Amino acid sequence: MQKELILQYKEYTHKDELASEKKRLLDAALKATELAYAPYSQFKVGAAVLMEDGTIFSGANLENASYPAGICAERAALSSASVLAPNKSIKAIAVSYRNENGSNDAIISPCGICRQTIAEYENRQPNPIEILLGNSLPDSKVIEIPSINHLLPFSFTKESMD
Ligand code: THU
Repeated sequence: MQKELILQYKEYTHKDELASEKKRLLDAALKATELAYAPYSQFKVGAAVLMEDGTIFSGANLENASYPAGICAERAALSSASVLAPNKSIKAIAVSYRNENGSNDAIISPCGICRQTIAEYENRQPNPIEILLGNSLPDSKVIEIPSINHLLPFSFTKESMD
């Protein structure tokens, strides 16, 4: 039997079209790119996590001379959120970047490991985690994805091991 999955997302032509809380979150992600330690890739990623009470936790990619030891911005931000606000649920995560030496100016989307990590956080709480994707260009479009399920269908979860 042939089946279909539907990927749902919204596209905004400019971040000014976002509700103020989401714009604030995307701005925090862009600001967090300044915290990146990316001497190897020169690719500075910032992420910001919005909690249910409006608090925002930021993170940036932190690279290492032993490349696999580096951590992505999304997981850095989620780690901060979960240790500093352990009992609060997450409403959204925004990702932005500055590509100082490259030419790509498209939207970036979380890597596979970060998708798996976001899925773990989403599975631990009742509400989905919205994902906002943007970049550092002033006229960048913004993509809003309602849940990590749309980026990581058929994910491996705790229930997979029951
Ligand atoms: N990176 C992130 O921080 N988040 C992503 O979603 C994609 C990639 C980082 C990891 C590494 O420091 C650099 O970008 C290049 O891969």
